[in-house]
Amino acid sequence: MDETYDVIVLGTGLTECILSGILSVSGRKVLHMDRNKYYGGESASITPLDDLFKMFGQDPVALPDGRPRDWNVDLIPKFLMASGQLVKILIKTGVTKYLEFKSVEGSYVFKGSKIFKVPSNEKEALATSLMGIFEKRRFKNLLTGINEFDEKAPKNPNMTPELTMEQVFKNFGLDENTRDFCGHAMGLYLNDDYLKKSCIEPVSRIKLYCESMARYGNSPYLYPLYGLGELPQGFARLSAIYGGTYMLDKPVDEIIMEDGKFAGVKSQGQIARAKMVLGDPSYFLDRVKKIGQVVRAICIMNHTIPNTNDAKSCQIIFPQNQLGRKSDIYVSMVSYAHNVASKTYYIAMISTTVETANPENEILPALKIIGPVLHKFVKVHDCFVPKDTAADKLAQCFVSTSYDATSHFETTCLDITNLHKNITGEDINYANIVDPDESASQGADQ
Ligand SMILES: *[C@@H]1O[C@H](CO)[C@@H](O)[C@H](O)[C@H]1NC(C)=O
Ligand SMILES: *[C@@H]1O[C@H](CO)[C@@H](O)[C@H](O)[C@H]1NC(C)=O
Repeated sequence: MDETYDVIVLGTGLTECILSGILSVSGRKVLHMDRNKYYGGESASITPLDDLFKMFGQDPVALPDGRPRDWNVDLIPKFLMASGQLVKILIKTGVTKYLEFKSVEGSYVFKGSKIFKVPSNEKEALATSLMGIFEKRRFKNLLTGINEFDEKAPKNPNMTPELTMEQVFKNFGLDENTRDFCGHAMGLYLNDDYLKKSCIEPVSRIKLYCESMARYGNSPYLYPLYGLGELPQGFARLSAIYGGTYMLDKPVDEIIMEDGKFAGVKSQGQIARAKMVLGDPSYFLDRVKKIGQVVRAICIMNHTIPNTNDAKSCQIIFPQNQLGRKSDIYVSMVSYAHNVASKTYYIAMISTTVETANPENEILPALKIIGPVLHKFVKVHDCFVPKDTAADKLAQCFVSTSYDATSHFETTCLDITNLHKNITGEDINYANIVDPDESASQGADQ
């Protein structure tokens, strides 16, 4: 470790691993350290099950017919949008070959006191029981408009870039409930701030939802076999192929600064030097500010969620308006079908942005919908963002943003793109990524 590197990366969360993979590929010498014994930081999947109990300060309980090693329990509830940014990054970097994905079986939205399947095309729009007959027609018209929308050459005067999304909904005559589920269950907005913005982003988000849905049918989401923790490990492998060095179980004792600039990291009496450092907020508590909290409840169950057509994986969104809240509640459920639990067990994660002094109370509406729970693990997480990115740049200390309450990785990918730009001054160039194994074998063929 007593060596000099181009970049030292602290923490092996997905953001850090993707960046260390891409930086290694572009020829930088990377040292990647994590204080934990396992990969993934907050985006890890915990195995065996006993470790999950211990992590939450509970005594391990054996489940009937459950083998602890079958479990890979995620700490954050996220899926991949089938047509989203992370899938693009996985394909362009070739990391797809280390992982296997299966689609998520269902996508639901809560309205009134029940849950409904989210309709995502014109045919489903006309068949849904989510809305009345005339509203269905208006909703179908909106979907057609979104499908045909071209921000450079808008054809439909009811949907042009100068209009806010609120005006667009009004122009199509949609009621509050339909608005709610377009913006929240399809646009995946966490609150109603988007209504006042130009319709370009909401329209493209709803379009992304429909396109992702069209790929596999039942939901717009993909999920990796053996859990989300496979994702950072896949990118760590990419980095290692290009010479990146990985060290787990390495406490960071000191971040050494010289003349206001990052100089190195001290761990167990040794010092590694580098020009710059990148890491998750937990390694830079003096450079970040808290912007809120997220509550996450991991619920182990021995049944599927009622009224989901026995789906072995699904997402349910509870729009804030339906519950009189400011932010949505999400339920993400996975199971043995994705190799993350013993046979016939299910893991539902409930999450939301904290709004009161009693976060456990806030998730009660979702707990009621998912049915009886065998074991529950609840934690409130602080969310951090960098305090002063201009100062970070001068100091050559780059800090990622905490995983937010969204149920997918789109915001994480945005953070990755921006960090890469700030670290290297350039956009990510995927054309550089050539698999050394494949180019070697291609060379041999010629
Ligand atoms: C689920 O667990 C409960 C509580 O232990 C038990 O009463 C019930 O029979 C179990 N159901 C199934 C399908 O195994
Ligand atoms: C990148 O730098 C710009 C300009 O200093 C700043 O506005 C932005 O927040 C930075 N982004 C990240 C992810 O650090």
